[in-house]
Amino acid sequence: RPIAVLISGRGSNMRALIAACADPRFPARIVAVLSNREDAPGLRTAEEAGLHTVCIPSKPFGRDREAHERAIDDALRAAGTEIVCLAGYMRVLTPFLVGAWSGRMLNIHPSLLPAFPGLHTHARAIESGVAEHGCTVHLVTEGVDEGPILGQARVPVLPGDTPEILAARVLEEEHRLYPHALAAFIEGLVSA
Ligand code: GRF
Repeated sequence: RPIAVLISGRGSNMRALIAACADPRFPARIVAVLSNREDAPGLRTAEEAGLHTVCIPSKPFGRDREAHERAIDDALRAAGTEIVCLAGYMRVLTPFLVGAWSGRMLNIHPSLLPAFPGLHTHARAIESGVAEHGCTVHLVTEGVDEGPILGQARVPVLPGDTPEILAARVLEEEHRLYPHALAAFIEGLVSA
């Protein structure tokens, strides 16, 4: 299945997907990496991996978020994308792009949803005193971090954890979970 990865930053989850796709048995291949930020380090990683990269900054579109998303949508379609994987894409999507890729757009979120949607999930997990934290791969719907859950991975919250230490523990699980959940999702499409 042709997938596209949308990033805004570091791109470590994208890197995990690139590594997974290198295995010929993995049911996806990356046809495009899109970023809304020219300075996203992940964009360089994707170029170095020989992938087709597209950068579409939002600035030229001003406040017209949908026009920005139409440009993204055009690029996704031009690349032959079937499934979109958000991987640290830091803009909230409008109903336009969510609707255009309904049931075919995945996101990874650094908490055990429905706990801690939104930002600063690791600090919030520590503050709230939960014993377990983790990450979630879910389908993207209009409500932010609300779509059907495809997979989760858990880590313990340990005494002395800082948000940074906990984030690193979760991130390691993200890199395992995303390819796994994507493959399971695609296999589900095939058998459906
Ligand atoms: C990850 O923690 C992901 O769950 C969240 O943003 C972060 C992106 O990291 N949505 P990276 O760019 O994949 O390294």
